Amino acid sequence: MQIVLCDSADQVGHRAADIIEARLRRGPAVLGLATGGSPSSTYQELIRRHREEDLSFSQVTAFTLDEYAGLAKDHEQSYYSTIRRELVDHVDLPLEQLLTPQGDAADLMAEAARYDAAIAQAGGVDVQILGIGANGHIGFNEPTSSLTSRTRVKTLAGATRADNARYFEEGNVPRLCLTQGLGTIGDAKVAVLVAMGANKASAVQAMVEGPVSAFCPASVLQLHRTAVVILDPAAAGNLSMLDYYREAQKFNDQLGQGQRRGS
Ligand code: GLP
Repeated sequence: MQIVLCDSADQVGHRAADIIEARLRRGPAVLGLATGGSPSSTYQELIRRHREEDLSFSQVTAFTLDEYAGLAKDHEQSYYSTIRRELVDHVDLPLEQLLTPQGDAADLMAEAARYDAAIAQAGGVDVQILGIGANGHIGFNEPTSSLTSRTRVKTLAGATRADNARYFEEGNVPRLCLTQGLGTIGDAKVAVLVAMGANKASAVQAMVEGPVSAFCPASVLQLHRTAVVILDPAAAGNLSMLDYYREAQKFNDQLGQGQRRGS
């Protein structure tokens, strides 16, 4: 794992955008997109680079990480609508190249298998953007998720439903979702996890310095060859080896190829 320590949420977004931009400038790419507040500064920076620096998404195919079960694509809170609002509608990514699991499919399990196969058929994800839940989840892989899981139907944890309650009318938070599995996420060539805020500090510490454990699903990234974890000071607040991470970051930055090295 590469740990990148930033001074602010904006800088987190900048560093994550650097990795994505480097990949997009090399030609057609498959991106994995997370929703939630964490990637907002990354998406804002990508939009800025699209508008001001000619960064094009026309050759991008994008797969979202997850979707609420029961919500149609055009529901205001579907992750399809969310990712359009947050990023896709502001860049030149053709809508037919934005792919999401269909939350209102009649057969959710078949839809999950179809989605997993579609990712593989596209050649796999080149760069996967991730946030982390306060309980250590990535995508919607809640604690105790199989570390080798594929895209499937999951039950949302009470804590996750409470965190996301702000987006729904009272009592309307979905209970089920479709999510890329931890094995699916692990197949991405590069995984970039962004986290900010003190409420993520304990999950970040468990992910980076704790054991690999299904109880902290994000810890599966310890097994990934090229996982980059980009943090603001509050999210990094519980880490015990900050001096080492700073030192390693200095050398990675000097080499100028942080995102391409093994980690
Ligand atoms: C949801 C999403 C995750 C996201 C997490 C954290 O559960 N499924 O992909 O990482 O929330 O959200 P936030 O970034 O808003 O804290």
